[in-house]
Amino acid sequence: MNAEKPVVFVTRRLPQAVEERLRRDYTPLLNTEDRQYTPEELVEKAARADAILTTAGERWSAEMIAALPARVRIIATYSVGFEHIDLDACRARGIVVTNTPDVLTEATADIAMLCLLGAARLAYRAQRDLREGRWRRWSPTGYLGLELRGRNLGIVGMGRIGRALARRARGFGLVIHYHNRNRLPADLEQGATYHETLDEMLPLCHFLSLNCPGSPENRGLLDARRIALLPRGAVVVNTARGNLVDETALMQALRSGQLFAVGLDVFANEPDVDPAWFAFDNAYLLPHIGSATVETRNAMGFRCLDNLDAFFAGRPVPDPLL
Ligand code: DGY
Repeated sequence: MNAEKPVVFVTRRLPQAVEERLRRDYTPLLNTEDRQYTPEELVEKAARADAILTTAGERWSAEMIAALPARVRIIATYSVGFEHIDLDACRARGIVVTNTPDVLTEATADIAMLCLLGAARLAYRAQRDLREGRWRRWSPTGYLGLELRGRNLGIVGMGRIGRALARRARGFGLVIHYHNRNRLPADLEQGATYHETLDEMLPLCHFLSLNCPGSPENRGLLDARRIALLPRGAVVVNTARGNLVDETALMQALRSGQLFAVGLDVFANEPDVDPAWFAFDNAYLLPHIGSATVETRNAMGFRCLDNLDAFFAGRPVPDPLL
């Protein structure tokens, strides 16, 4: 072990190439069993480190941050989302926090498109029947989904991932509307229609995709009242964060026919997905795999390490959150 290398506590198992670089440049405290640590274990293990490399699956509350020793000076999260870290508490302690923007944009937009298509074309119902030997014959009236072409897609949050989804969706003939804190310049808008309020956009959305951060102000953004503003038979896609939607209201809207289908890659209380979801065969469900490609997961790890490298070399970190 090389004593002068900074010690990095790594909360989860990372791709091999990332762990190799970690071993080369740092003294890593690796989670070789890939266990989900309890909050107490996280604080206890972090106490031996100069840096924490965490993921969106670990919550770092104000109390946990306050309990960290002074030697912990940086937290690099292996995610673009950062609502799992109490940034105010980090600021108060002078802890630098970084994330991994850009590198997961395309992979996540691919999964958003998959969820949209999977929901619109009732892919789960069809595949389940096929695999379970329930598909007897081709039928003119079987598995009828929704055509995308000429319909409106409303994107909530036109950041990098929202725009990457818009690019894909245009290829399928969807007409893009969006709601964002600010209107984008024309070169980024690419002809999409801006709506200053979400409520004004919803009645136009045959398809709605959530691509905004899961920050406290967005919690419960898609609730029963707003779902009722969508046209009857709409499709909702969420690849951002589970806390953006009221899941009970979403299920109720599927039961009533207000929604035709949903495509979800994220859930409230992950990984404890509400089992009530499994009763809906018009729900296309994935286990938070937006960024799950070899290339993207490597790139996310390297981006964390680029931030750690800069920090320990005394340079400005590339992706500061504070
Ligand atoms: C992210 O980077 O925020 C993804 O959702 C993976 O956690």
